[in-house]
Amino acid sequence: MSTPVIAAAVLVLSLQLAAASRVLNHGGAAPDANIAAAGGACATAVSPFGYACEEHEVTTPDGYILGMQRIPRGRRVTGGGGGRQPVILQHGVLVDGMTWLLGSPEESLPYILADQGFDVWIANNRGTRWSRRHVSLDPSSRSYWNWSWDDLVVNDMPAIVDYVCSHSGQKPHYVGHSMGTLVALAAFSEGRLVDKLKSAALLSPVAYLSHITTPIGIVIAKAFAGELISDFLGIAEFNPASPQVSNLVRTFCRKPGVNCYDLLTSFTGKNYCLNNSAAEIFLKYEPQPTSTKTLVHLAQTVRDGVLTKYDYVRPDMNVAKYGQADPPAYDMSAIPARFPLFLSYGGRDSLSDPADVELLLDDLRRGHDGDKLTVQYLPQLAHADFVIGVCAKDLVYNDVVSFFHRFH
Ligand SMILES: *[C@@H]1O[C@H](CO)[C@@H](O)[C@H](O)[C@H]1NC(C)=O
Ligand SMILES: *[C@@H]1O[C@H](CO)[C@@H](O)[C@H](O)[C@H]1NC(C)=O
Repeated sequence: MSTPVIAAAVLVLSLQLAAASRVLNHGGAAPDANIAAAGGACATAVSPFGYACEEHEVTTPDGYILGMQRIPRGRRVTGGGGGRQPVILQHGVLVDGMTWLLGSPEESLPYILADQGFDVWIANNRGTRWSRRHVSLDPSSRSYWNWSWDDLVVNDMPAIVDYVCSHSGQKPHYVGHSMGTLVALAAFSEGRLVDKLKSAALLSPVAYLSHITTPIGIVIAKAFAGELISDFLGIAEFNPASPQVSNLVRTFCRKPGVNCYDLLTSFTGKNYCLNNSAAEIFLKYEPQPTSTKTLVHLAQTVRDGVLTKYDYVRPDMNVAKYGQADPPAYDMSAIPARFPLFLSYGGRDSLSDPADVELLLDDLRRGHDGDKLTVQYLPQLAHADFVIGVCAKDLVYNDVVSFFHRFH
């Protein structure tokens, strides 16, 4: 999932559910320890379903070593991955690539794509479980966490795309959810990657965040955009499992007007087709850490109503970084008109609110080639449905597959 609030949302939700499940589990070992002991994501989540799976490593220009999982072919196919069309899956904030793998092969996007003949590559953001290494920095240091999502635009995405291109010998397609769409849109708006990808499917697309209406979202966004968080956590890891963050969440939930009882709903909107066990399975693997700076950056977007690079707030620091007192804007109408885009958004999504998606669509429709822009509006869906909903195959993924086939 993802966004400013998405992040915070998922985080809070997960904390509450995690607390509950810890009680149920009589305080067993931390899930991460069990998962790490079982091997990588391939061994933990993919191989048990009978799919081939490879672990890969991509090093970014600024030294982060990112884990990727490749599912090179479908379950019933034998032989190499030769000639199959690669697809990169990019998750949102505060989760990792395993978020795509929580349902059955019949319901989950990576397996559906593999079974449809695609060569599937699952990315994991820097700082999450499979991507915590760096050529010289340690994740316990402040310098390791000194980045916002701008750095994913400039460093991680291009490194991932180049790696997949060079391994498969073909231009990949891209699928992003939530912050995975934000990073892509920001990159495309600067002309990055549009010549290296065949197309992009953006689920719960995020570029504007001014219509977030849930009280908890607003409270959290204000806190992240303000001094509170900067002083408190500064340039640091934002680990939802840490005691500081749990305390913060408890404080948020005591604010008037904030109801933390049904957090999943209050954050993501009322999801339409989550399996009853989805929350429990989700908590087995998520949430995952990100940098505090990323959450501050997302909160700035909520506050300011425009999408810009990270605002250092102090004009001298912005000048040092950008050569101007205010951070430069990402201009969505600058996305090249010929680049094939598929956008799917839900009417009940309170993170990627339909009103905000429509602002993005206004920007895109102004100049985009009509036959290169496919838009799907699903009034019944909310944020989490697009990744872990049992109805996503019928409502969304089948159309993503047809869209990709159009641009082979
Ligand atoms: C973070 O990066 C900036 C440059 O972008 C640098 O000025 C600052 O010293 C760094 N802080 C830490 C703690 O690494
Ligand atoms: C819900 O998840 C459980 C456990 O993974 C699975 O056995 C069941 O088939 C799922 N139900 C639906 C409707 O997908």
